[in-house]
Amino acid sequence: MAVVFSGVQPSGTLTLGNYLGAIKHFVDYQEEEQSFFCIVNQHAITVPQDPKELRDNTRSLAALYLAVGLDPQKTTLFVQSEVAEHAQLAWVMQTIAYVGELERMTQYKEKAANKGESIPAGLLTYPPLMAADMLLYKATDVPVGEDQRQHIEFTRDLAQRFNHRYGELFPLPKMRAPKVGARIMSLQEPTKKMSKSDPNQNATIRLLDSEKDILKKLKRAQTDSDNTIRFDKENKPGVSNLLAIYSHCSGKSIEELEQEYDGKGYGNLKVDTAEAVIEILRPVQARYQELISTSELDRILDEGAVKAREVAAVTMREVEQAMGLKR
Ligand code: AQP
Repeated sequence: MAVVFSGVQPSGTLTLGNYLGAIKHFVDYQEEEQSFFCIVNQHAITVPQDPKELRDNTRSLAALYLAVGLDPQKTTLFVQSEVAEHAQLAWVMQTIAYVGELERMTQYKEKAANKGESIPAGLLTYPPLMAADMLLYKATDVPVGEDQRQHIEFTRDLAQRFNHRYGELFPLPKMRAPKVGARIMSLQEPTKKMSKSDPNQNATIRLLDSEKDILKKLKRAQTDSDNTIRFDKENKPGVSNLLAIYSHCSGKSIEELEQEYDGKGYGNLKVDTAEAVIEILRPVQARYQELISTSELDRILDEGAVKAREVAAVTMREVEQAMGLKR
């Protein structure tokens, strides 16, 4: 039986990268027998968060999940901190993870850079918590963007290590990166991925940005001085990123776009990309506005937590039994 799990951090308003790389595809996975989509707020606190903003971002993310088409009748939508077993299993995973392998994680190295003595320990132990998220539900399939590949591989290692030491309990989850949209880049530094916590507002398109802002940001996107519209990630990262975004939002292939824009300037490409992005986000934003201030949203999250706890509690009992933590 396929069991799907994925999560997104409520660490800011989602970007077009989060949308094209992850949550847009979640809708297809809710047709599987069992699926769990989580708002991973315990991951978000691995860097300091303002409590009010974190609360607001959590509800906002839930509304966005629903606005893109997740249906609580088909899937379980819940908040990580409302299911205590995530933290419990994360501790177990920390006891079988090695410091050396945690220190080698790319995301850790990036987020810990320049922090000197003040690296929050949670940044280092983020991957065991992420492993716990998936393993609690015995996930078989994990739809995430390409940037999460290393964490999924690490989860498979931990699951295997656990199974080897304590007996076969966890399936090894498989990463399901989308064929397209797996890595959307920053509009200002196109060799870096687009991130919701990027302080440069011009670098990201947010799912709740106004049409005016989307156009403005895309017009300011970094390109190059060669003035030919061609997909070449290595030598033309900015133009390639625009082509990728345009292609994902319009459904046209990169080759079609290269032909269509042959001989045209970057200005045309930027404006047309903006129009395609606006078009794809318009219905998501409208649905979001209908949902965000309703109590329906909280009811869905309450019910999701109850459903998630039922499954998580069973796995946690099995883990404790296997490890000798139960009398
Ligand atoms: N630029 C991206 N292109 C494609 N997919 C992306 N994802 C993130 N950025 C891109 C995918 O979005 C999902 C949710 O990610 P997350 O919130 O759990 O954490 P993240 O990967 O660290 O995302 P951000 O936006 O960069 O958040 P911050 O800035 O808070 O660290 C994942 O499936 C991810 O692959």
